Amino acid sequence: MTNFNYDKVKHGLDREVLVNQMKNQMSDFRFTHCLRVEQVSRDLAVKYGADVDKAGLAGLLHDYAKERSDKEFIDEIKSKHLDPELLNYNNAIWHGIVGAEIIKDELGIADEDVLNAIRRHTVGSTNMTQVDKCVFVADFIEPKRDFPGIEAARKYADKSLDSAVAYELKHSIAHLVDKNREIYPATFDSYNYWISKGEL
Ligand SMILES: [Fe+2]
Ligand SMILES: [Fe+2]
Repeated sequence: MTNFNYDKVKHGLDREVLVNQMKNQMSDFRFTHCLRVEQVSRDLAVKYGADVDKAGLAGLLHDYAKERSDKEFIDEIKSKHLDPELLNYNNAIWHGIVGAEIIKDELGIADEDVLNAIRRHTVGSTNMTQVDKCVFVADFIEPKRDFPGIEAARKYADKSLDSAVAYELKHSIAHLVDKNREIYPATFDSYNYWISKGEL
């Protein structure tokens, strides 16, 4: 049971209503991941002095659109006149950048700090706010995550948010290269920026 709500971010926003809305339209696997990211994102925000409610709400919603069809994302890119370059990518990129538009429309979330953190959780940014960083890192280190490097990721998150961001970008790019997957250009820009800011 949680004893927080997001009324401060958006007046009248009831967390329990939001949570039920999420639960009904995504797998249990993804839903429980979102709840864990919400909690870790809030914890990081407390530790590093970011806005706890914005970090928590963005963490809760970050994968809201991840299980939508490719067609829905493609239609959204076209109807919202988003960067046509996005059409060359896939769900891994879309569910953040395009997902934020779906969240805006379906859930009525208009807070740009929250929406930006959702947009940036898949690709990072050279411009990440503290809220963005909390969500980005929480997604990577939530308690059920298990991959080679997770312990280092958690240590960095404990020591410095910027280092944790740098480590995550480095790890993610290395993983994509290893799997012969394409890399969205903004991810490289983020890496170049944060690798010089965060101490690894
Ligand atoms: Fe995601
Ligand atoms: Fe996620």
